[in-house]
Amino acid sequence: MEEFVACTNANIALIKYWGKRDEFLMLPTKTSLSVGLDALKTTTKVQFSDFDKIFINEQEVQGEAQIKVLKFLHVFRKKFKIDKFFLVDSVNNFPTASGLASSASGLAALAKGLNELCSLNLDFKELSILARRGSGSAARSIWGGFVLWHKGVSLDGSDSFAEQIFKSVHWPEFKIIVVVVQESKKIISSTQAMQITVKTCKIYNDWVRNSERRIRQMIDAIVDKNLEKVGELAQLDCLDMHETMRTSTPAINYWTDKTIKIIELVNKLRAGGIQCYFTIDAGPNVKILTLEKHQDQILSELKNIEDIKTIVSGVSGD
Ligand code: DP6
Repeated sequence: MEEFVACTNANIALIKYWGKRDEFLMLPTKTSLSVGLDALKTTTKVQFSDFDKIFINEQEVQGEAQIKVLKFLHVFRKKFKIDKFFLVDSVNNFPTASGLASSASGLAALAKGLNELCSLNLDFKELSILARRGSGSAARSIWGGFVLWHKGVSLDGSDSFAEQIFKSVHWPEFKIIVVVVQESKKIISSTQAMQITVKTCKIYNDWVRNSERRIRQMIDAIVDKNLEKVGELAQLDCLDMHETMRTSTPAINYWTDKTIKIIELVNKLRAGGIQCYFTIDAGPNVKILTLEKHQDQILSELKNIEDIKTIVSGVSGD
């Protein structure tokens, strides 16, 4: 039986995506910018099957994760007029569904695998548009390096795709320390949580309005390899996003006491002259943005906090 294997990396947004303007086409309200993580990988095997069957980390998936993938396979069949079912076998080398972007790398790998299996010859732009239909942030995981996902303006979503703006070689000293404080499933999926935010948060539109300026500032900071600028902007955007969640009805909070402990440690280290900044997605885990020269010192400070795991990552390659 013919099978294809595709590998992708997770990404974290330095300028966040949080909210859709079109739920069906998965079109975002704002442009976002991310960095790929070379240490966080998804490997996905796809083959034809009598019916759709999905395995993640060797377990047949159910619930929300299953629905997400089944919906994507349905969209895929319709879009490319393919009358086949698939066996999807996906393995992450990092905790799944705890806010570590497993759906981003998972759906991106699936899009790449299906492209090969069905001999579609899609280019990276088309793959990004396809992956977006599975999970918004997956549009960015098609690429490595620093990636920009354009929100686009067209109603059919044809201009809402991600593209690489810098390769990993642009900034090899840039490191991300992923601090896993909890490996279990998130309290509410990002899909549901962002719907609540868009519908009910009164400060949401202000954040969206500010974002194009922030994207431009972030690109300039990456051009200059200015960690202070990158870190300050990323922290600010992360805090703003979590504030939109907290001021939604019902209020959404992904942080735990441990999350706050790590934030406080990052702030303390920075005050002591170690360049480090934090960003947090839809979960309690924290990603510390830093430079290679500070990595060991940060890791040794993190050792004083119980029951956490750390993963050090560079920027993912092509
Ligand atoms: C907080 O891409 O997981 O990580 O498009 O509904 O699948 P869906 O959501 P998802 O949301 C990611 C949100 C985020 C921020 C980001 O990655 O930009």
